[in-house]
Amino acid sequence: MAKEKLGVLCSGRGTDLQSIIDAVKSGQIDATIEIVLTDKPDAYALKRAEKEGITAVCVNRKEYDGRQPFEEELVRRLDAAGVTLVILAGFMRILTPYFVRHYKGRIMNIHPALLPSFPGAHAHRDVLAYGVKVSGCTVHFVDEGTDSGPIILQAAVPVLDGDTEETLGARVLEEEHKIYPRAVQLYCEGRLKVDGRHVTILP
Ligand code: GAR
Repeated sequence: MAKEKLGVLCSGRGTDLQSIIDAVKSGQIDATIEIVLTDKPDAYALKRAEKEGITAVCVNRKEYDGRQPFEEELVRRLDAAGVTLVILAGFMRILTPYFVRHYKGRIMNIHPALLPSFPGAHAHRDVLAYGVKVSGCTVHFVDEGTDSGPIILQAAVPVLDGDTEETLGARVLEEEHKIYPRAVQLYCEGRLKVDGRHVTILP
């Protein structure tokens, strides 16, 4: 079976990207990373990719007049690189149906909360404001909604008295770096069976 070709989209520091890079290097993920794209020129993810010799390109959202032309450029770059699975790793933009349909069933995201609770861009802040005692992270396939696609893996962490967005975020991130590579490898092994909202992990 041909190896999956990953394209990773990031907006910031890229620790989730790093966990995927490390897993590919160690053989935990049997795939290649063909390209890393960011929507911001100062995203540290670009440097991480460059350090590893991975093609890294900024498609600066600010230079595009609207979401569709921006996404067309992302698609052009990903397709040119032969990408077969798109990994959103701290990519802080909502993708339109145009992009999602183009890679239907082949886009994964990680969200720093236990979906369907606390979707959106400020999960830790919302978790702390609500007062829940458990949070975590969720890897899911991306559909046309926001953080609403079929769930692949989740991990839980406690929310502790006195937590800040930073302390909770760091605790959640540790789990993200474990479950994201695991989910990607399950996909690469052809072990994720999707039936509506339900993802079954095949033996
Ligand atoms: C991660 O916590 C990820 O779950 C979150 O952004 C952070 C990126 O960290 N993603 C979202 O909130 C997506 N809506 P990183 O840049 O160090 O990988």
